[in-house]
Amino acid sequence: MSQALKGVRAGSHNAAVPYPTYTAVSLYAGAGGLDWGFSQAGFKLLWAIDSDRHAVETYKANLGEHIVCGELPGDAPSGDLRPDLVIGGPPCQGFSVIGRMDPEDPRSRHVHSFLDVVERLEPRAFCMENVKALAEADRWAPVREALVQRAKELEYQVELMVLSASDYGVPQARERMFLVGVRGGTPLCPVPTTKGEPPTVREALSRLPVFGKPGNATVSTAKVVPAAKPVMRPSAHKGSLLFNGSGRPLQLDEPAKTLPASMGGNATPIIDQEELTAGAKPWVVGYHARLRKGRSPDKQAPRRMRRITVEEAAALQSFPSEWKWRGPQGAMYRQVGNAVPPVLAERVAISVYEALQVIDDQHTEAAPANAAGMMPAANQAAII
Ligand SMILES: C[S@@+](CC[C@H](N)C(=O)[O-])C[C@H]1O[C@@H](n2cnc3c(N)ncnc32)[C@H](O)[C@@H]1O
Repeated sequence: MSQALKGVRAGSHNAAVPYPTYTAVSLYAGAGGLDWGFSQAGFKLLWAIDSDRHAVETYKANLGEHIVCGELPGDAPSGDLRPDLVIGGPPCQGFSVIGRMDPEDPRSRHVHSFLDVVERLEPRAFCMENVKALAEADRWAPVREALVQRAKELEYQVELMVLSASDYGVPQARERMFLVGVRGGTPLCPVPTTKGEPPTVREALSRLPVFGKPGNATVSTAKVVPAAKPVMRPSAHKGSLLFNGSGRPLQLDEPAKTLPASMGGNATPIIDQEELTAGAKPWVVGYHARLRKGRSPDKQAPRRMRRITVEEAAALQSFPSEWKWRGPQGAMYRQVGNAVPPVLAERVAISVYEALQVIDDQHTEAAPANAAGMMPAANQAAII
């Protein structure tokens, strides 16, 4: 039986049509990127949790007071909650390709804790987000097989999808795993909206106030310094390491590379201010060419080479520009880098919503309705 309430859906569909509002509980909610997407698609968040107090403050400032600051698995939600959906992005450092890839890493336990909550709350569906490596790396096969097997034993039909954010309206080539389970129905995969013509860094940043003005002034103090021993590849942007740290210059006419949670210091991507605002040729291209001719590395980079601001990082993650960030600067960068891009989250959320509606329509109508714009996940190339 559907527990849906009647409401008006705020997502991308016809807002004049009354849609049911499904309820959700969110685990490891962070700053709320995933939750924003689900609330836009018509889910009502009943309860959320995260252990980072700054992220919780950010969440409250944008999404509401229903989040608590606490530690899972100990502070798990009450069994009295009976949401339609459980969502969450358990910590992924243990699974990340840039992390230590340690199966014993306690942070890797959280994916199982997520399903413990699913087992207890018995939602109609769940959606767990994580890094692509958990879906694809050989060494994580036992973990993902255990997750899928357990979800099946809990009577969910499950699909494991890897989605590229830049195919869904996000100016970032971020690939993420989504494990979606639906009881009594089929998970649907969101149809790409911008495949082949992804939004670019330039488009996203052009919507922000000028660098240094209110709304675009939260900038890392990490200096951009040319590397004393640069790593040279044929292209200035692709593979070369010309500066201190892992932060690289962004290519303005492409989606950004994946923004890491470690932003704030030397891992913060770099932008060429004159290229952005005056259409100048990227400084790094000329510098790379000079190095290739045998010139010594520069001692300092020109001022036009700077780190991206928190607001720019948030725009590249597709957060609404009015999003309020809380906490010290390093905490803000971390929250941004940790988040599911909200616009990608909304597309996934709509597909979960539609899957629930198909089930409800089957219960109320003789002829089952087809979910517009969706296809069974099993028909999608991105499905593992
Ligand atoms: C990948 S981030 C989630 C990002 C979030 N889904 C979003 O879209 O903004 C993982 C989150 O798990 C939180 N976390 C880590 N360990 C936790 C624990 N034991 N209990 C609760 N939250 C935890 C971190 O603070 C972090 O915000």
